[in-house]
Amino acid sequence: MIGRLALAALLLTTAAPACPQATPARATNFPGKPPIAVGVAWYPEQWPETRWPVDLAMMRKAGFNTVRVAEFAWSRMEPEEGKFDFAWLDRAIDAAAKHGMMVVLGTPTAAPPAWLTQKYPDTLRVDEDGKRATHGGRRQFSFASARYRTFARTIAAEMAKRYGHNPNVVGWQIDNEIGPPSFDGEAVARWHAFLKGRYGTIETLNQRWATEYWSQHYDSFDQVPLHATGQQNPALLLDFKHFTTATWSDYIANQAQAIRAAADPRQFVTTNTMFWNGGFDHFALHRDLDLAAWDNYIQTGHADWVANGANHDLVRGYKQRNFWLMETQPGRTDWAPVNRALDPGQVREMAWQAIGHGADAVLYWQWRPARNGQETYHGALLGQDGLPNPILAEVTQTAHEIDASAPLLADTVPVAKVAMLFSYDSRWAIDLQPLNKNFDPVREFTDFYRPLRVASQGVAVLSPDVDLSRYPLVVAPALNVLTADTAKRLEAYVRGGGHLVLGPRSGMKDDADALWPERQPGPLAGLLGAHVEQYFALDAPVTVQGDLTGTAATWAETLVPDAADVQVIARYGDPGGWLDGKPAIVTRQVGKGSISYVGAWLDPAAMQALAARLLEAADVRPILTSTDPDVEVSARAGAGRCVLVVINHGATARPVALPAAARVAIGKIADGTLPAHGVAVVRVPACG
Ligand code: GLA
Repeated sequence: MIGRLALAALLLTTAAPACPQATPARATNFPGKPPIAVGVAWYPEQWPETRWPVDLAMMRKAGFNTVRVAEFAWSRMEPEEGKFDFAWLDRAIDAAAKHGMMVVLGTPTAAPPAWLTQKYPDTLRVDEDGKRATHGGRRQFSFASARYRTFARTIAAEMAKRYGHNPNVVGWQIDNEIGPPSFDGEAVARWHAFLKGRYGTIETLNQRWATEYWSQHYDSFDQVPLHATGQQNPALLLDFKHFTTATWSDYIANQAQAIRAAADPRQFVTTNTMFWNGGFDHFALHRDLDLAAWDNYIQTGHADWVANGANHDLVRGYKQRNFWLMETQPGRTDWAPVNRALDPGQVREMAWQAIGHGADAVLYWQWRPARNGQETYHGALLGQDGLPNPILAEVTQTAHEIDASAPLLADTVPVAKVAMLFSYDSRWAIDLQPLNKNFDPVREFTDFYRPLRVASQGVAVLSPDVDLSRYPLVVAPALNVLTADTAKRLEAYVRGGGHLVLGPRSGMKDDADALWPERQPGPLAGLLGAHVEQYFALDAPVTVQGDLTGTAATWAETLVPDAADVQVIARYGDPGGWLDGKPAIVTRQVGKGSISYVGAWLDPAAMQALAARLLEAADVRPILTSTDPDVEVSARAGAGRCVLVVINHGATARPVALPAAARVAIGKIADGTLPAHGVAVVRVPACG
């Protein structure tokens, strides 16, 4: 490990390179605070106050600089309706600050007190079958309840009044892992208002949803049932997702406004989200939040590092800025069928992977398990006796390393030359009508992502609606829902010299889930100079041959070139079948750019060959060459620095070739190898 002085020398002696994508990035907006946060979820309300200094001193010794508190402490902060008790929280925040901790305050609205829901049962959530939730768990409130929102706003406002200018409070987490919708009367009323806002007239809704089909015609908005599942029109079910997105967004805005009205604008406002959660559109939800934060758990205890990295990149894409890892597991979870612990070294890997992908904060969940309750078996840094669990040593090492490398990482952001487009609408539209039950859009996305990430060492995961001009290569693995606007912007991207690749099922639907009148890729068929003639759900692989060879499974589309300059890259082999000899992949040069269409879900080796071809065509090169498949390389650039986070995710030592001018700040690369589960933070002259 490098000491602070040696690191300072390193910062001064290495020449400043010209690095792309350099924008200031730090964990907080407070200049004097640590640029990278590392810490833990702490529940002072569960322990006697005499224990607090012991815990905080242990946290400090572990290298922590941050605690997140209060996100489930509503019954302590408002023990009776309208009566607030913050004295204990004042003392907890003060004690934390005395031990050098930054504080993130959670609003407690995921866990309403019993008095609230007992007196106002209308605030409780109702499930799709009409059953009302009860007290004793969490998230039992209705996201549509006006009364609940008033209580939520009040507690958030009271907290902000008290702590909005507390110099030790650096940010706010609203609620906790928002999720389940409600189907109560207020939700139904909001649904009707939402549809009216979206379509204006019932005639428009009828036309967009094609309600002549099965006599679905509606005479007024209030006839439209509220459903998330069942044999409903998929247009209705897709709009249900738009509705939940809108309802959660204004649920969050309700509290964000209350906080911002009273707080120092430097305190960030965020919420914490979950692994690939498809309950709402996360790009839309984050529009009015300051930064994204998420909770990263490897429930099986077996990390697929590439797939995990894809989720980090997705979260970074919500705001296109560095994010907080608000929770991660110290070893194991307690909610999986088998809660295997990560192997020694992997908790450290996970922290560094997050940082490599753009996290400016890593917080563990949790410090010490409550002596009772639903989560007593969850991994924690201390045991029930208040003494360290074995994992604390690894976390301590990690926290000290993060602290030591913070000056290098400050104001740097991940480097990516490839963008991948993730569209919630497309994911939902496919999930609603999969045609093949094995077509999981997230898995398909990850299959495209895997070789691109490994070979390019940096992928940004973005909404289709953002500016893509800085990325030479843009891949949309299944852009099923493609609006005319997005199509226009993608066309401009290609005409501007970009390389666009569409995967199977792209360009099929509009944003009301209706088929485009043209065959796929709908509004981009003209630019492609080709169209999809037919699509097929596969129950056995077929071969693909041509410039790349392999197999396709689950899904295959046959393409027909319409323009003379369309190049066929590969064709299917399917003797006696519909696919035989038909084009599977086509590409067309457009000025200096190109558009390609991949009609098949390819096997991993073929996907890798495809990725290599695409990267070469777009002239995207890795930062470190000849890396082992288990070695992950991420680069962060900014403030005149390029910093690599190199992780050996394998269980044996692996070779890593660094450029001559590289300076290792953290970890050891001895004789050109990185040990099993090893991490190295390396400064190099340029990010390429
Ligand atoms: C989520 C929640 C936490 C805790 C952990 C356990 O992330 O936000 O309160 O329940 O899961 O894994």
